[in-house]
Amino acid sequence: MSISLSGRDLISINDVTKEEMLAIFREATSLEPYARSKSDVLKGKVMALLFFEPSTRTRLSFEAAMKRLGGDVIGFEEPSMTSIAKGESLIDTAKVIENYADIIVVRHPFEGAAKAIADAVQIPVINAGSGALSHPTQALVDLYTIWREKGRIDGLTILFFGDLKYSRAVRSLVRGLLNFNVSFIFVSPELLKLREEEREFLKSMSIPFIEKSSLTSDLAREADVVYVTRIQRERFTDPMEYERVKGSYRLSMEHLQHVKNDLIILHPLPRVNELDWEIDKTPYAKYFKQVFYGLLVRMALLKMMLT
Ligand code: CP
Repeated sequence: MSISLSGRDLISINDVTKEEMLAIFREATSLEPYARSKSDVLKGKVMALLFFEPSTRTRLSFEAAMKRLGGDVIGFEEPSMTSIAKGESLIDTAKVIENYADIIVVRHPFEGAAKAIADAVQIPVINAGSGALSHPTQALVDLYTIWREKGRIDGLTILFFGDLKYSRAVRSLVRGLLNFNVSFIFVSPELLKLREEEREFLKSMSIPFIEKSSLTSDLAREADVVYVTRIQRERFTDPMEYERVKGSYRLSMEHLQHVKNDLIILHPLPRVNELDWEIDKTPYAKYFKQVFYGLLVRMALLKMMLT
């Protein structure tokens, strides 16, 4: 049975069932031949990119994905050059753009922005990152990377290392992983621990997890996947809080002394200095492969949402 996402929005990772995730993964794999060439499967379709926050990977991979599939791209990455600078509302802007495009991809600092746009327009909307809580396409990319690199997700131990308080990638990935049978280890400085509501959410689902404030090589030995995140400096409301945690953690070669041979290390990127550049040379480093898989997953999403 073929699975369609036609006409649907993607606002939260919870909008996608496990069966749909696996269909996205299969579609992404089947589209790999077009990642370096061109298809006309979305010929005549237009995607609007509305980016109210900086982005390299998400914006450019959506753009590349649409172009590789034969579609066109409009949009902006600098809202100050649009009529928003004259006082036009986000919703009015979206209701105008739906006349020009078949799908909207939006990144915004406010958590509810993508949902508000989806409620206001008739065309599909993809949340490309909103606030500190949600980044569903990154979660799909991360899940796909694990699925491709490990051949499965069930039965794995995932160790999250870094800013677990403000990272929307972590929050969305944890929710995506709840579709599978995995074990969680969370390692972060005290000030960047999982939010209390996140901890309570996992407990309410009877999901076991280990929480630690520093990473040891013994702890790293337990992991099948280490997922590293930078400190999300832009989310701090108190600059002094950022100063207190700046540079407080870093994954180094010493942590990898006793790890499993087939460990994979992921990072949504950008990296600042929380992941030693020496690790790039090891077979564990999969974060640039993850970038490539991001292109495939976004190609699959666009195809499945627009055909
Ligand atoms: N991982 C990610 O969302 O990267 P960008 O901010 O560059 O899009």
